[in-house]
Amino acid sequence: MILVTGGAGFIGSNFVLDWLRQSDEPVVNLDKLTYAGNLGNLAALKDDRRHVFVRGDIGDRALVASLLERHAPRAVLNFAAETHVDRSIHGPAAFIETNVGATFALIDAVKTWWTAQPQPARDAFRFLHVSTDEVYGSLGPDDAAFSERTPYAPNSPYSASKAAADHLVRAYHHTYGLPTLTTNCSNNYGPRQFPEKLIPLMIVNARAGKPLPVYGDGQNVRDWLYVGDHCSAIRTVLARGRSGATYNVGGNAEMKNVHVVGTICRLLAELAPGPDYASFVTFVRDRPGHDRRYAIDPSRIRGELGWTPAETFESGMRRTIAWYLDNDAWLAGVTSGAYHDWVSFQYAMAS
Ligand code: NAD
Ligand code: TYD
Repeated sequence: MILVTGGAGFIGSNFVLDWLRQSDEPVVNLDKLTYAGNLGNLAALKDDRRHVFVRGDIGDRALVASLLERHAPRAVLNFAAETHVDRSIHGPAAFIETNVGATFALIDAVKTWWTAQPQPARDAFRFLHVSTDEVYGSLGPDDAAFSERTPYAPNSPYSASKAAADHLVRAYHHTYGLPTLTTNCSNNYGPRQFPEKLIPLMIVNARAGKPLPVYGDGQNVRDWLYVGDHCSAIRTVLARGRSGATYNVGGNAEMKNVHVVGTICRLLAELAPGPDYASFVTFVRDRPGHDRRYAIDPSRIRGELGWTPAETFESGMRRTIAWYLDNDAWLAGVTSGAYHDWVSFQYAMAS
């Protein structure tokens, strides 16, 4: 079996659902259920004995040690993290606690358990750490895309905390020989993403007739990857990635934010005809330290492992918008009082 952390969040839940659609190998899912974790994401697995959900913190060494002893997973996949850049600007401490401190506790507990296993199990074991392209910092318009050799230059408390975790993973491979894999992926979108991030926020606000808040001049560039493609990349790296290696994962879909928002408005007009959604676009105060451009050079994962994304931005966005239109109950469940508190705080500050 495999042990997944953060499997009630956006990417983790998509990963667990995809995994159990394609294989009968059981999943132990350790998640603290922060504001971003939601058991509703895993409702389809309620009576599925292949999925064992454990509410807990990756920083709880005793709990992690007992799960490792009890289940002897062949791999640990670490999705658990604090993930929203804007929240990291207003409250960095939680990012350091989880993404650095708790991630250290997790990898150290895994290393202790792994060291005591027989050699064949040690050789076969993998610790796969899910990271971000944001650790590489910001690119100018003509700079080459991020490769695995690009020096780390994180700019936000979020990306700095993820960079720290990546360095720990590297060190645990180099020093102790722990068989690690790290994926550095670009911006994801798709079903079950919490509507604090750009794409679901825009879909939700447009449908509610609310402003679509674009930071600064809207010319910041991100590379966008459909979440199902990120899940297939992680499965590929787990199956065939070189121990100790890092892999950049991207969607071949570099785009300015204004173009992303324009695409959402155009597809919404087609799938949910209504008001002129584009007229809701509002330019608001920029995010402090806002990275200008991210871009991924995917040649390593493509060349070594043969992975490429299946969805284009257009096809992935169509699937995403259709999912949000069909899942009002999910949305009502996650946009609770705490969500409203965040949105009024963040966008009062930004406007
Ligand atoms: P998310 O915020 O939707 O979910 C994070 C999950 O981790 C939640 O279920 C939360 O309850 C859980 N969690 C948080 N702290 C925990 C702790 N201490 N112990 C156990 N569980 C804890 O995040 P996401 O967007 O699904 O991102 C998953 C991973 O992928 C993160 O490591 C993130 O850095 C990385 N990543 C995300 C993106 C993206 O665009 N969303 C892109 C590249 C990489
Ligand atoms: P986000 O989804 O927060 O991801 P990240 O900051 O990790 O890339 O934001 C994606 C881009 O969209 C980023 O350039 C910031 C911008 N953005 C807005 O313009 N308005 C918003 O309300 C949000 C949440 C993001």
